[in-house]
Amino acid sequence: VQRIPVPLAGAPYEVWVGAGALEQLPEMLARACPAARYAVIADSAVADLYGDRVRTLAGAVAPATLFTFPAGEANKTRERWRDVTDAMLTSNIGRDGAVVALGGGVTGDLAGFVAATYHRGIPYVQVPTTVLAMVDASVGGKTAVDTRHGKNLVGAFHQPRAVVADVGLLATLPDNHARAGLAEAVKHGAVADRAHFARIERSGAALLRHDVEALTEVIADSVRIKAGVVADDEKEHGRRAILNFGHTVAHALERVAGYALLHGEAVAIGMHVEARLGERLGITEPGTAAALERALIKLGLPVTQSDHAPEALVSAMIHDKKSRDGTVRFAFLKRLGQAAAGDDGSWTVAAPQDAVLRALEP
Ligand SMILES: NC(=O)c1ccc[n+]([C@@H]2O[C@H](COP(=O)([O-])OP(=O)(O)OC[C@H]3O[C@@H](n4cnc5c(N)ncnc54)[C@H](O)[C@@H]3O)[C@@H](O)[C@H]2O)c1
Ligand SMILES: [Zn+2]
Repeated sequence: VQRIPVPLAGAPYEVWVGAGALEQLPEMLARACPAARYAVIADSAVADLYGDRVRTLAGAVAPATLFTFPAGEANKTRERWRDVTDAMLTSNIGRDGAVVALGGGVTGDLAGFVAATYHRGIPYVQVPTTVLAMVDASVGGKTAVDTRHGKNLVGAFHQPRAVVADVGLLATLPDNHARAGLAEAVKHGAVADRAHFARIERSGAALLRHDVEALTEVIADSVRIKAGVVADDEKEHGRRAILNFGHTVAHALERVAGYALLHGEAVAIGMHVEARLGERLGITEPGTAAALERALIKLGLPVTQSDHAPEALVSAMIHDKKSRDGTVRFAFLKRLGQAAAGDDGSWTVAAPQDAVLRALEP
């Protein structure tokens, strides 16, 4: 099991990655997140698979109770936040309690937001169970729920005390979710580390077979990259925005498609579109979109969509509550392995609408 530091100035923590890492949960809780009670929060599907095991492991340190909510992005809402916090209040979890977020990115974001707000904030640890949550969502302290106005619009920065990523738990993950999670790993390579990008492309076949060694290597490297970016700019005042590469288009697609698309699938399409757009605007080195396309296709990920009109997607971008004064901003690549700085230190660039429309054409 590798222990990867996330060197945040205020509250550094570690991400433990490897097959069998879960067995070390009691040691990790006792050391990094001691509490009088543990609230293990999981969606119903993950609770069925791993809920008892994690409750027992946490229960070796302090009394642990399992709280569940229905699986799926459609449940990353304030209503489920209310249900879970009400259930925790009913079972008298106090300010000396802590949360164990057991599941994918939906659970991590929802349970993290519960921890950020319960009794004005209690500690928590992340136990990610999807590729996406292991490579990306469990690290960095962004917690949120969705609203009808868009994704992640109500939330908080709340860093976990530790993260335990047991790659063995991925054995039960459906293939489409494993592939989708790899899109975020490709993103880490694309924005910050060309060698990581090349490694993912090379081990594509092994990754799709759920090969534990290949997955462990990719997850550990992605966590190192994300940890470095987050440690430099925890609250996203600047460079952390590079992690939003592909996401302006992805969030619009998810919104227009009513979340029928997996987040990672939307990110794959978004990266390809945004690389094409960056090339047209002279920001991204020519050939970048083609290289991304090759790698993503090898991983069984989509790179284009024809279900939604470019106009509808642009309109979703403009109405995204995070877009500034009607302009649509993108985190572009300079080249594979390097993000483009932007001109105002924001690491994002506003793109003209007609260019965006053209890049969105299938
Ligand atoms: N906070 C962040 O920094 C950050 C970063 C990236 C993505 N996200 C968020 O993450 C979410 C997507 O996360 P996700 O793709 O993990 O989705 P998810 O949490 O919905 O998990 C996907 C599905 O797999 C099931 N599942 C989870 N682990 C399993 C396992 N080991 N075996 C079998 N089934 C399992 C779940 O029940 C669910 O149905 C989005 O809401 C996205 O916005 C957050
Ligand atoms: Zn993402």
